[in-house]
Amino acid sequence: MSFGADTIRIEPLGAGHNRLAFHCGNESLDRYIREQAGQDTRRDTARVFVAVMPDQPRHILGFFTLSAATVIAAELPPAMEKRLPRHPIPAALIGRLAVDQSALGQGLGGILLADAVKKTKVAAATVAMAVIVVDPIDENARAFYSAFGFASLDGPQRRMFLAVPA
Ligand SMILES: CC(C)(COP(=O)(O)OP(=O)(O)OC[C@H]1O[C@@H](n2cnc3c(N)ncnc32)[C@H](O)[C@@H]1OP(=O)(O)O)[C@@H](O)C(=O)NCCC(=O)NCCS
Repeated sequence: MSFGADTIRIEPLGAGHNRLAFHCGNESLDRYIREQAGQDTRRDTARVFVAVMPDQPRHILGFFTLSAATVIAAELPPAMEKRLPRHPIPAALIGRLAVDQSALGQGLGGILLADAVKKTKVAAATVAMAVIVVDPIDENARAFYSAFGFASLDGPQRRMFLAVPA
């Protein structure tokens, strides 16, 4: 089976979602959705979005978070750096993104990432943001983001970035 953007629903994390049943194979991401995601939402430090099927609306198939961030222009490739000011560049941070093991390898990760990019583009029309950044959790995650056009930032954090599409 593979997911389509029209078969799943992506919505803000709410009280009706079963956070305890989510398992992506990475304990820190499982713990995040279980224990911290609600708090981040209430404190306005991250927006958390979950993917569900309409016929199983409590079952979280995947999630991602979005927060405001900044990057240093010098960490961007020279061609981009040249046309940007020296002060911190406004960015959106995909802090976490994960897919439940029951849904792996069926296109959901790509759908979540595309939705995060689309939401950032919409938000950037009101509050300017030049890039989207991620902190890949391991080499597998780096390969996943690379497949969607993210490139490495030149900094100590090993962040990756994508220009917000025009
Ligand atoms: C990384 C993750 C989100 C991918 O989710 P997924 O739903 O399995 O990914 P998709 O099925 O949408 O894959 C889409 C494309 O991404 C690429 N991709 C996915 N995983 C990849 C990997 N490990 N290495 C290289 N490319 C990968 C492939 O190009 C794939 O296209 P294909 O169908 O032609 O093979 C998922 O494996 C996961 O949740 N892992 C644990 C948590 C994690 O690492 N999160 C990201 C870091 S914060």
